[in-house]
Amino acid sequence: MKKLKLLLPIIILFITFSACKYDFILPEEIPVIDPDNPTAEIFGFAEYVLPIFNKNDNCTSCHKTGGQLPDLTTEKAYSSLNSARYINLSSPEQSKIYTHPLPGTSTHKHKKYTAQEAAIILAWIKQGAKNN
Ligand code: HEC
Repeated sequence: MKKLKLLLPIIILFITFSACKYDFILPEEIPVIDPDNPTAEIFGFAEYVLPIFNKNDNCTSCHKTGGQLPDLTTEKAYSSLNSARYINLSSPEQSKIYTHPLPGTSTHKHKKYTAQEAAIILAWIKQGAKNN
């Protein structure tokens, strides 16, 4: 039941999102991950998370070395994020790197994640927020 509660919002998000999806804009699906499934796809930091920050200077236009914290550049992003300020492994949904730029919130006055990016960040944290 607890697991169902956890999965339900993800599934609803997935359905809502895929219902109005345009393939030419969003070619990829929102990942639905089950942290208890050992064969689940791994959302590694280098392959999945860093590009969200760096691609087209998405976040690094401001979150760069000497700029706004956290430093999200390739060289510094992991060490900059690897603290209780940004990552909460016991309640991944409360991690600031996930909640602050979450779509539909007003905490971050700047760029927000797309639904897919948010799901990837959350998946990465649920899988242990490793430097992988
Ligand atoms: C136009 C500049 C700009 C861009 C682009 C930007 N941010 Fe920010 N970000 C800021 C500023 C300024 C703050 C501090 C004020 C605030 O919290 O809104 C901030 C705060 C944050 C914080 C909270 C920092 C803390 O220590 O409390 C996080 C997390 C964050 N941003 C993540 C991101 C992510 C992820 C992206 C890319 C999707 C991004 N930001 C894109 C300017 C930016």
